[in-house]
Amino acid sequence: MNPDSNVVVRPARGLAGRLLLPGDKSISHRYAMLAAVAHDQTHLENYCPGMDCASTLHCLRALGVEWKRQDDVVDIHGRGKLLEAPKAPLDCGNSGSTIRMLSGIVAAQDFSSELVGDESLSRRPMARVITPLARMGARISASSGERPPLRITGGHLKGIAYDMPVATAQVKSAVLFAGLLAEGETVVREPLRTRDHGELALRAFGAEVSRRGNEVRIAGGQKLHGIEAQVPGDISSAAFFLCAAGLFQDSRLTIPNLLMNPTRSRLLDILSAMGLRISVVELEEKHGELVGTAQVEGGKLTGATITGADSAALIDELPVFAAIAPYTEQGIEIRDARELRVKESDRIAAVAGNLRAMGAQLEEREDGLRVPGSQKLHGAEIDSLGDHRIAMAFAIAALRAEGETLIRGAESATISFPRFFDTLESLAQR
Ligand code: S3P
Repeated sequence: MNPDSNVVVRPARGLAGRLLLPGDKSISHRYAMLAAVAHDQTHLENYCPGMDCASTLHCLRALGVEWKRQDDVVDIHGRGKLLEAPKAPLDCGNSGSTIRMLSGIVAAQDFSSELVGDESLSRRPMARVITPLARMGARISASSGERPPLRITGGHLKGIAYDMPVATAQVKSAVLFAGLLAEGETVVREPLRTRDHGELALRAFGAEVSRRGNEVRIAGGQKLHGIEAQVPGDISSAAFFLCAAGLFQDSRLTIPNLLMNPTRSRLLDILSAMGLRISVVELEEKHGELVGTAQVEGGKLTGATITGADSAALIDELPVFAAIAPYTEQGIEIRDARELRVKESDRIAAVAGNLRAMGAQLEEREDGLRVPGSQKLHGAEIDSLGDHRIAMAFAIAALRAEGETLIRGAESATISFPRFFDTLESLAQR
């Protein structure tokens, strides 16, 4: 990735057209990983074109998994439980999902592997995944206690009952994937409901997984079979355009193949409550995931306070919510979102710094931000810090600013949404 890649975003009058979304990043990672340990072939369409999901595929190849890819269509030959010892470190790139969830799979293999990442990933906390996997029987060491590289010596794992101290779906999936390959039953309890793609994907591949309240159970030793699936469009990528639509009265967007999983769609409720008009038609279920077509009409956004379970549910969407907050009537307050500080960048500091560069007033707090509404912003130089969601969030803020905005490190959008800037240009009305 080129940190010096810059894009200029000009103000717009509205947004109109059909938004074609990349495949969901969270689902793509999980389908690829489960396909690898399934007993036959998997065919995936609309696989997320972002670099994070490419990192997952490259790691799987290094573990002896054969796959073929043409654009967003990926065919994966499952190897069953046993993978091959990698000859070099597994490069997870920028992807927290890859390193954490793949840890759950390599922890059950009878060999040692090393998982490495780029500069940003090498700063991110891994104790959350090391602790449960070590309890299951893997030997894991990390630099300075919990940062990548992770050295994992896997082998025979035993199921555990685990109370997750942090609400994180990556860790829940890692433990469930390890549990699938372990002996006995694994139980994971989450403090707040997080995205359930891991559970749904396991079921789609033929495993039995049960849930009661916030507790999920899986029995070890179940065999997976391959699937044919179309990955739903990423609602976290749609978030940028939904928020942008809310900035202009006469925006009109149609969003086909939108992921509507209730653990991910809180964003739609909150934007509707703020005044965006959204209707969803043609709802259907694909491999347990709800998908629909959204029709969106712009409106004035009032404001919102996002706390508790909502902050966890909206964790990937909070940067763009905060970036459009000055244009809302009453502003936006975000609390209980300390996790934002340990994402691809410290997203609270990144949002605060860049909003101030555009002339906004705000209050930065340890666990969130308070951004007053009805402010006028001006174009500025934005530092994305190499973080895809920061680059995209400020491209949206730029649409209502006075003058042009330069997004530094714009190429980071390729992590989850490589066609983001082209898509924005094609939908923006000027
Ligand atoms: C993800 C979970 C979230 C999210 C990330 C993807 C997943 O991370 O921020 O982009 O696919 O499970 P945490 O598990 O760290 O909350």
